[in-house]
Amino acid sequence: MNDISGSFSAAAVELSGVDLSLGRGAARVHILRDVSLHIGRGEAVALLGPSGSGKSTLLMVMTGLEQPDSGAVVVAGQDLRRLDEDALARFRGRHVGIVFQAFHLIPTMTALENVATPLDLAGVRARDALKRAERELAAVGLARRIHHYPAELSGGEQQRVALARALAPDPIIIVADEPTGNLDETTGRDIIELLFRGQRERGTTLVLVTHDSELAARCDRVLHMHSGRIEEPLVPIVPAPGRS
Ligand SMILES: Nc1ncnc2c1ncn2[C@@H]1O[C@H](COP(=O)(O)OP(=O)(O)O)[C@@H](O)[C@H]1O
Ligand SMILES: [Mg+2]
Repeated sequence: MNDISGSFSAAAVELSGVDLSLGRGAARVHILRDVSLHIGRGEAVALLGPSGSGKSTLLMVMTGLEQPDSGAVVVAGQDLRRLDEDALARFRGRHVGIVFQAFHLIPTMTALENVATPLDLAGVRARDALKRAERELAAVGLARRIHHYPAELSGGEQQRVALARALAPDPIIIVADEPTGNLDETTGRDIIELLFRGQRERGTTLVLVTHDSELAARCDRVLHMHSGRIEEPLVPIVPAPGRS
């Protein structure tokens, strides 16, 4: 049940009829409404929509950090609703990379430890985890910062560490929630280039929440959210025959 190998489907993410409410009593809010979507392996998908439309919550559902009230959530062929908390955590550790706007590094750990620890938890031998973490940090330009603590790093550097941490297990899918939201424009662009490079080179599926429509246009597909729903595109995405 917890072994997901051999059960991969062509899709990276398949949601159908996902509904989710959060909060109690009068404060209960219906956040996701009948969300269905299919994201292919290696696809880069941008998720656009006004603040409060449910984008972050949708990413949480895709990563199993939030359970829907109803509907199906299948990631890399694994039905996430059939996994218990421990199995979900293991699944995330191996197959899902998450990049948040606020970095979310562990302040008492060095950059190297921040990247190596999840590998460790995913069952990689400690020495190999450290080696891999070092490689990943070098790949994001932080070879000379591996022993620094988050507080000793700039915002851009912290987000590079977070990116190295997300990419290190070679996940099937990376979800990035406004990853440049706390960074200046130039630093943000660097992070995005690293994110796309990681996605391209490894064939990782990318789901990117952004407010930047230019950035969204660089993805293979753009999904628009509004009031907890994915809006259907008004024009077909596939070009008519005979046109290119
Ligand atoms: N734990 C929670 N309890 C109640 N409401 C929540 C909770 N988390 C988010 N919401 C509400 O759900 C809606 C969607 O939130 P979110 O997914 O963060 O949207 P977005 O990322 O598009 O800005 C918002 O109206 C928000 O206030
Ligand atoms: Mg959000």
